[in-house]
Amino acid sequence: CSKGCVDKDDTNPTIDKIAATDMILFATPVYWWGMSAQLKLVIDKCYCRGLQLKNKKVGTIVVGGSPVDSIQYELIDKQFDC
Ligand SMILES: Cc1cc2nc3c(=O)[nH]c(=O)nc-3n(C[C@H](O)[C@H](O)[C@H](O)COP(=O)(O)O)c2cc1C
Repeated sequence: CSKGCVDKDDTNPTIDKIAATDMILFATPVYWWGMSAQLKLVIDKCYCRGLQLKNKKVGTIVVGGSPVDSIQYELIDKQFDC
């Protein structure tokens, strides 16, 4: 698991780059009250690299059509907290 996902696709080099950074800034449009499928795919691939990503600073940029007081932003924020 620490060597990366057993599924050898193009995401492993991307996760290597993420693991080498001090801070990660995720950006996504809101799709159906959540992050985009494209970003979710990368985050899912981080699962087996959890220890390497622990304690990194994380920022998010989330853009949606709904007003900023919509609960969807809180939900997405909580997902990133987790
Ligand atoms: C499939 C799809 C689902 C979307 N779902 C939401 C949503 O749940 N909430 C929301 O605020 N905006 C939603 N949007 C709007 C996008 O967040 C918006 O298009 C995106 O932030 C880009 O902004 P723009 O269309 O003004 O360029 C959705 C857009 C698409 C294409």
